[in-house]
Amino acid sequence: MIPRTIFLRLIEGGCLPPSPLSGLTPEDFWTEKTGRAVIFTVAIDGPAAAGKGTISRAVAARFGFAHLDTGLLYRAVGAKGGDPIAAARGLMAEELARGDLRTLEAGQAASRVAVIPEVRAALVAFQRRFARAEGGAVLDGRDIGTVICPEAEVELYVTASAEVRAHRRWLELGGEAAHILAEVVERDARDMGRVDAPLRPAADAVILDTSGMTVAEAVAQAIALVAARMAGE
Ligand code: DC
Repeated sequence: MIPRTIFLRLIEGGCLPPSPLSGLTPEDFWTEKTGRAVIFTVAIDGPAAAGKGTISRAVAARFGFAHLDTGLLYRAVGAKGGDPIAAARGLMAEELARGDLRTLEAGQAASRVAVIPEVRAALVAFQRRFARAEGGAVLDGRDIGTVICPEAEVELYVTASAEVRAHRRWLELGGEAAHILAEVVERDARDMGRVDAPLRPAADAVILDTSGMTVAEAVAQAIALVAARMAGE
């Protein structure tokens, strides 16, 4: 049995003993009682480079929740090559720690394997368990509020104009600005246009457009929303 905090550290460090994610149960990693048997899910969806990751990490840190960047699952499957369905079914925790998953190419490869229903299906159970495990969880992705955890206590849809998002990616990764904008637009079209679990706001999601916001402002709004929901508002 792996205590929850250690499990998360192992995922980040890429040193979890070989075991397919699909085979892990909550008992494998939620054994450390925090004294707060809270089940509280924050679902954060939105297009690439809208600020989901930054907001998710800040919310998780503020409330002591576990955080899962679900894009990493698809990136790891896309980066593995070969049969993506087999890669998704046998995905190992240590594969999420590959150093080359943040590139534009890895994002495109992830978006391409993410249209395959069998790939998505293979990753659902792990994400659902993570979302509803004791201790609270923040998951960011494309279908968290619509498919993975429609019962999430907070559903946030973080977005920004394609130009603003491409500029942010350019600041982060460098390269040719026009090429990055084209990548963003292409990925949006594929993620929003696919048949299975397309990117769209959940019916009762709060929309946060970060186009004209600083990181601090966007984080503050997200934290205020979560705090209000935790207080039962
Ligand atoms: O969030 P990201 O840029 O790391 O995601 C990479 C790709 O993975 C994204 O373009 C579509 C896919 N994805 C998905 O289909 N569903 C998710 N919950 C997360 C990511």
